Amino acid sequence: MTSLESQIEALTTRLREVEEQLAQAQKMEAIGRLTGGIAHDFNNLLTGILGYSSLLKTFLPENGRGYEAAAYIERSARRATELTRQLLAYSRRERPTFRPVNLRKVIGEAIEILSRSANRNVEIHTDIHHPQELVSGDAGALVQALLNLGVNAADAMPGGGHLTFSTTLFVSDGEVYLNDVLVPEGPYVSICVADTGSGIPEEIRGEVFAPFFTTKAPGEGTGLGLSMVYSCVRTHGGFLRLVSSVGVGTTFQILLPVMEEPGDPDDPRADETEVPPGTETVLVVDDEEIPLNLLCDVLRSLGYTTLPAASGEEAIEILRYAPDKVDLVIVDRIMAGMDGIETLARLRAIRPTLRTILCSGTSEAGRTPSGVVPDGFDDFLQKPYERVMLARTVRSVLDARPSNN
Ligand SMILES: Nc1ncnc2c1ncn2[C@@H]1O[C@H](COP(=O)(O)OP(=O)(O)OP(=O)(O)O)[C@@H](O)[C@H]1O
Ligand SMILES: [Mg+2]
Repeated sequence: MTSLESQIEALTTRLREVEEQLAQAQKMEAIGRLTGGIAHDFNNLLTGILGYSSLLKTFLPENGRGYEAAAYIERSARRATELTRQLLAYSRRERPTFRPVNLRKVIGEAIEILSRSANRNVEIHTDIHHPQELVSGDAGALVQALLNLGVNAADAMPGGGHLTFSTTLFVSDGEVYLNDVLVPEGPYVSICVADTGSGIPEEIRGEVFAPFFTTKAPGEGTGLGLSMVYSCVRTHGGFLRLVSSVGVGTTFQILLPVMEEPGDPDDPRADETEVPPGTETVLVVDDEEIPLNLLCDVLRSLGYTTLPAASGEEAIEILRYAPDKVDLVIVDRIMAGMDGIETLARLRAIRPTLRTILCSGTSEAGRTPSGVVPDGFDDFLQKPYERVMLARTVRSVLDARPSNN
């Protein structure tokens, strides 16, 4: 072969590789669009299931079977919510909600689910050091990531074995590399998920994080587990390492930066079980029936008086009629006709000091980055929300000092 021929052949091979990469990228893009597209409807359905199951619990005696069933529906819906959030984060349409996270709780939750679902011969252990360090993150996404690792580990030990979750404090001097990535100086919580399973052969170690890479039989794995773990760790500003030895076992190590200013322990948001009640009047605006009724029902169960409005126009009518009666308005962002933002502007024209919460089923990344409340609103509520979260958000907006506008 002449050198020209071999050059042409090399170029043709390269072209084929690029074509394959492009096809893969287009596939991911299509999945992204698909997940983003169904998210809004799916979230509304989950809002109904999650909201009504937690409401149902409040009607039932706590030790009865009905309560247990409602709690089970609630837990399943919460899982589905987390899964949707993860898929959305994966399709880059949604950023996780960052809050101070207690990793001991996150690990506990993952283990609870695993111990119910995983092979009974898999013994789960924990070794938690430095439990007081908080990281800033999305507890739901982190539970899901640990679950993915735990499920993989259990799958790698069909005949049983040991699965250990451990945490320690890790301080980087700024010269440490994890999987060839430099870990900047500072304190991290290191979480290890270790198994005594089959191990990962060296030749596929570089591929396991790629989306759709799986060694499992069709129908048994989609190959998305580890790519979700990877994207979750990166959105948390963390790092990931894989150590594996065939026949001995596998350890995934995750480093998450320790929060610089740990959350105020007196912040009511820090206590995840307290459901603060209230007696004020809330105007609720949503053009979809289920979320509207649900929000009103939940608020009433907390002691609030509610005024439902099925459109921006209706909300304006109500506020005009009783401007001093309304203490807070919760408005959905996406509505047919007048949307949430315009509704707010018109309501403010009637009462400039009105307290407001914007509610949305999709977080519209970019417009509503995590932790940032959209212009003009006092707070933001991500659907589907839970009763506790709603109660706390409403209470904190109502209790905040009056704004100057
Ligand atoms: N702890 C582990 N021990 C051995 N092999 C593992 C382990 N974790 C992952 N793997 C390998 O990496 C592959 C990719 O894992 P990943 O979680 O991304 O997808 P999956 O488990 O195959 O499918 P899914 O998680 O989407 O159901 C697995 O098919 C398996 O071959
Ligand atoms: Mg998996």
